[in-house]
Amino acid sequence: MPATERSKVVDSIATNDLANDARKAGERVGLTGDTIVIRGGKPLRGTVDVRGAKNLATKAMVAALLGETPSILQDVPAISDVQIVSRMLEAYGVAVTSPEDGVLVLDPVNVARAHFAEIDALAGSSRIPILFCGPLLHSLGEALIPDLGGCRIGDRPIDFHLDALRAFGAVVDKSYEGIRITAPDGLSGANIELPYPSVGATEQVLLTAVRASGVTELKNAAIEPEIMDLIAILQKMGAIIWTEPNRTIFIEGVEHLKGYTHRAIFDRNEAASWASAALVTGGDIFVKGAKQLELMTFLNVYRKAGGEFEVAEDGIRFWHPGGALKAVQVETDVHPGFMTDWQQPLIVALTQAEGISTVHETVYENRFGFTEALVEMGANIVVHQDGLESLTRRVPRRKLEQAAVITGPTPLHAADVRIPDLRGGFSYLIAALAAEGTSRVSNLGLISRGYEHFVDKLTDLGADFTVEA
Ligand code: EPZ
Repeated sequence: MPATERSKVVDSIATNDLANDARKAGERVGLTGDTIVIRGGKPLRGTVDVRGAKNLATKAMVAALLGETPSILQDVPAISDVQIVSRMLEAYGVAVTSPEDGVLVLDPVNVARAHFAEIDALAGSSRIPILFCGPLLHSLGEALIPDLGGCRIGDRPIDFHLDALRAFGAVVDKSYEGIRITAPDGLSGANIELPYPSVGATEQVLLTAVRASGVTELKNAAIEPEIMDLIAILQKMGAIIWTEPNRTIFIEGVEHLKGYTHRAIFDRNEAASWASAALVTGGDIFVKGAKQLELMTFLNVYRKAGGEFEVAEDGIRFWHPGGALKAVQVETDVHPGFMTDWQQPLIVALTQAEGISTVHETVYENRFGFTEALVEMGANIVVHQDGLESLTRRVPRRKLEQAAVITGPTPLHAADVRIPDLRGGFSYLIAALAAEGTSRVSNLGLISRGYEHFVDKLTDLGADFTVEA
């Protein structure tokens, strides 16, 4: 088969896989259709309620496996990533109940081996299974991890995770199905230095070290607010963890951990997404639950781009003050830098800013794919595959960097687009809301992975749309 034919087949398989992922994700949270038809041009105005962070809640659920008594997690968002982790925990015998909206009770007392096929069926849509390793090794002495899913924004390797598990004394066997991890001599505290402050690898170390024998020293750790919230949860469970200001975390292993009761930190990514939506549509949105401290860097960039915000007791109001937005130069970075998950919705706003903006992506190697559809809608965005030189940063420059140069303002016109990933997908929604004309945005279910009740929220904000099967 000629290469062009072969690449077409591969593309169509990838397209179908994505469509299947989207459909399954939407079904998990009761989404009624796969395509949203948006009539653009109306400013979004009103209040949205942002609850617990997708990137904390899913990890807190895994942490419950480490306890000898049930845990209670509050402010849990109704998103499909939470549904996936709930199903996975149940496959391992954990009783997952929801006594009221937003509350999960996780009882690990009957944890047992799962049927691999059950985990495999779920793992394709998430990266969380890799974080089950430490807790399962402690509880069952073994973990079977299938190939992982998650947003297609880069290669998404797990080498830092596997190296960390080996440092604790685990044995990693790779098979055609995925990886089998055992700990024949138990798990002992280790000195680990991450090559890059990886969020997932930091969580891997935390979830393994808390019950390993001895002290673990983790250097070059991620220190995102979601990581600190996970540390707070583990400390509630009985763990002994302390952090140094230089990205070093010490964990003194303990024999027993108990269940926790914890209210999840708010979702910074969702808050920043709605803030960008207010800029893009010329609107005014109160994001209930948003907090200033965890959004400091985003707020600085928001203000420099010409957005206005006001911090209240119970949230933050974001609005477009009128007049022209201003071009900004942004480099994504680890915390407390500008989060890589914030750049997609912001880029849509920058298409409306006067002048030339630059967004330099330093965390993932393929996170500008979504800009192609924005160009189709009239945006002027050039992606530089090799990034840009930059003078100072918290982590050494990596070869995978890319940069997007956005020249505005360029009026956006409607188009039919297919959502490629979670954050890129949200940027399509807000681009369509700002565009002249009627757009059709498909693969809608992918938004359900990380944005709770987003259809209801768009209705509350006055958006003009219909959802089609
Ligand atoms: C978490 O992903 C988040 N996902 C991501 O949010 C977020 O963008 C990312 O952290 C950075 O903040 C969840 O928490 C579920 P990393 P994670 O390990 O843990 C490389 C969203 O939209 N790396 O910090 O997978 C990796 O390839 C999602 O909510 C290795 O090379 O991110 C990337 O280049 C998208 N080897 C960099 O490190 C490894 O073993 C950062 O990855 C692990 C990571």
